Amino acid sequence: MPLPNRQNSDGRNPRHVGMIMDGNGRWAERRLLPRAAGHRAGVKVLEPVLEAAGEAGVESLTLYAFSTENWTRPQGEVDTLMRLFLETATERVPELGERGVRIRFVGRRGLLPDDVLGSMQRAEELTSGGDRLDVYIALNYGGRSEIVDATRRMISDGLDPDDVTEEAFGRYLYAPEVPELDLLIRTSGEMRISNFMLWQIAYAELYITETLWPDFSKEEFNRAVESFATRSRRRGGV
Ligand code: IPE
Ligand code: IPE
Ligand code: MG
Repeated sequence: MPLPNRQNSDGRNPRHVGMIMDGNGRWAERRLLPRAAGHRAGVKVLEPVLEAAGEAGVESLTLYAFSTENWTRPQGEVDTLMRLFLETATERVPELGERGVRIRFVGRRGLLPDDVLGSMQRAEELTSGGDRLDVYIALNYGGRSEIVDATRRMISDGLDPDDVTEEAFGRYLYAPEVPELDLLIRTSGEMRISNFMLWQIAYAELYITETLWPDFSKEEFNRAVESFATRSRRRGGV
């Protein structure tokens, strides 16, 4: 069944939600399972979250899947994660495409294994016509590297220093077309940003929950959206 048509009419719901999907390892450790089991359980949560996002009229969802710092994990865990990305991108994407989801990847493409890169490209092609929900997967993503990459491209384009405005900078980000980040959700209770969307986070509302990512649900996504709707976004005003 396709996701509902985009409808975010009253402006109280977030247009762009970012999610730091954290706590897979702890979820597994509490069950005396290997960390890989937590990552597998985490993949299952994607479906209900995408559904909830579509129903809430969210236009764009950015999911933090693997940071530029996550390469420092033991090689076995990195390999497990890469295998899971490959599997998920291959097996789940056709159905998401049918439901109107458009998938894009943000982050540095270098360092990723060739088969993963291939599956990412196929996922982007296969879902390019999706018009219900834009899902950005942050893979080998770092907020600092995004800023550095944007700066490099501005310099190589020969931008005049006077033309380097906030708007111009925004056009050099990995996904310049996406609206600003309205709501950032982080699971598993950590009160930090961990290098996620440093530029875009400037006026995002934060929702941090103790729930570990594999236990996250559609209901909790809806609670985060409801909490967002009650916030007064003053943006430095009164
Ligand atoms: C998030 O869960 C998944 C990735 C970072 C890829 P973690 O693996 O960080 O889980 P914890 O934080 O160790 O519980
Ligand atoms: C952030 O989680 C990265 C992702 C969810 C992909 P981490 O588990 O890597 O962050 P830290 O280590 O707690 O800061
Ligand atoms: Mg973690």
